[in-house]
Amino acid sequence: MKDKFYITTPIYYPSNKLTLGNSYTTIVCDAIARFNKKLGKDVFYLTGTDEHGQKITQSAAKVGKSEKEYLDEIVADTKALWKLLDIEYDKFIRTTDDYHEKAVQKIFTQLYEKGYIYKGSYKGWYCTPCESFWTESQLADGKCPDCGREVKFQEEEAYFFKLSEFGDKLIDLYKSNPEFLQPISRVNEMVNNFIKPGLNDLCVSRTSVKWGVPVEFDTDHTIYVWIDALSNYITALGFLSEDESNYKKFWPADVHVIGKEIVRFHSIIWPAILMALDLPLPKRIFAHGWILFGGDKLSKSKDAGVKECTDPRVLVPMYSADAVRYFLYREIPFGSDGNYSTEAFLTRINADLSNNFGNLVSRTFSMVKKYFASEITDAAAANADDEEFKTSVLNEVKTVLKLMEELDITRAITSIMNIFTYANTYIQKVQPWVVAKEEGGEARLKTIMRYLLESIRIGSQLIYAFMPESSAKVLNAFGIEPTSEFANIDNFDGLETGKTLAELGILFPRLDVAAESEKLFKIANE
Ligand code: MSP
Repeated sequence: MKDKFYITTPIYYPSNKLTLGNSYTTIVCDAIARFNKKLGKDVFYLTGTDEHGQKITQSAAKVGKSEKEYLDEIVADTKALWKLLDIEYDKFIRTTDDYHEKAVQKIFTQLYEKGYIYKGSYKGWYCTPCESFWTESQLADGKCPDCGREVKFQEEEAYFFKLSEFGDKLIDLYKSNPEFLQPISRVNEMVNNFIKPGLNDLCVSRTSVKWGVPVEFDTDHTIYVWIDALSNYITALGFLSEDESNYKKFWPADVHVIGKEIVRFHSIIWPAILMALDLPLPKRIFAHGWILFGGDKLSKSKDAGVKECTDPRVLVPMYSADAVRYFLYREIPFGSDGNYSTEAFLTRINADLSNNFGNLVSRTFSMVKKYFASEITDAAAANADDEEFKTSVLNEVKTVLKLMEELDITRAITSIMNIFTYANTYIQKVQPWVVAKEEGGEARLKTIMRYLLESIRIGSQLIYAFMPESSAKVLNAFGIEPTSEFANIDNFDGLETGKTLAELGILFPRLDVAAESEKLFKIANE
């Protein structure tokens, strides 16, 4: 039986202004999901939208729509964006989906019946945009510590989840399972900032919010934010529905990928809820950093100065989804913050995709066409240089596989690009055009071409998860089904001798950085 692999993004707050920054988690998960499919696993990739709360009612009212109408439009827009970015998810959950709401009610009731939820009254500082209550000491200069906006003091009857009982269990969990929360620095942050000072019980219902899931046994109360939102990871699999087969097959999650600002919810509240329900815990939570635009999480507003173009709806049609995806994987060290700038983006496309990957493929294909009428040759006359090249490529394959297991996608993609760099360097070193003129050089020339093609085949297989469109073009030219599981990636015997390569156009046209950059700034600042 195939190994299973269950990966999730957080469910997104509905927004029709998703930028490159917001798209990051989904783009990253897509590469991990596709890579695991290529490894032959049975993958389930979940994403979706987090659709309840006061803010939705407010935003819908502002544009004169019902909540549902407002949300349907945004969800359609979000799905279109994921399609544009070549995101291949297996399920899109909406927290307004009927099966989800029903299961959340049952989860809440179970927690109540098990004694983990009780009724009390809540007093605290509330930030409406973040839908978060804060204690006095958590406020930053009297404002919301997350978004910096005004907070107001509120008191109301509410249900509470006994989070305070889980401190020691969570510390044991992190200690006994160092993989649970990564990068490891996040563990210290959770322990020192939240668990050691003592966890407070968590307010899990509101009477003032109507747009949400009602508590089954006390319908004046609406289930508040985190039990509703976090449960999506199991309700999407059919947990507590008529058909729990996906739940049985895929839970526990292999990895929840999240942004660093929601680590507390995923590594403290979520495991506590699961422990209270007596359910298995996710195997791994990986927190990535933020994409910063001029040092800020959000794209600069117009009046703050020159604005970068960060809209994937503009960038993808101009430069391809592959180019946008590549930049994010390669430039933002996975797990840390990284910067986006128009110049860095355009320069990377030129340097890595056009000059390295694209150029290698095009010069190799034209040499094979020129010398052997596009026929794949055998490798009967390998010398030490050829063997050295082969060894460095195959070593790099091992590195890529290891790094992907560790979810170090930035170093993994760098490693894949190394394969193309080695191949370009090999061409310079062995100078096939000189070998072609040598008396009796044909056997060696055949070998060189074969080795180059094998390295391109392997590199294109490995890069498929990151850049499916360009990878597919190359693999198709070899007659390989792009979505097929990895085969012969640890050897140079993956191509059929005598087979003809199909024609391949230019993968990444070289860009005029100054001209393109001017175009993009103009679009963004119009
Ligand atoms: N709804 C909650 C999650 C609930 S999960 C049970 C939420 N939604 S969100 O829309 O604000 O964020 C969705 C994802 O986008 C998060 O992983 C977040 O970190 C990511 N990003 C939003 N802006 C970002 C950047 N500028 N850079 C990188 N990722 C960022 O949180």
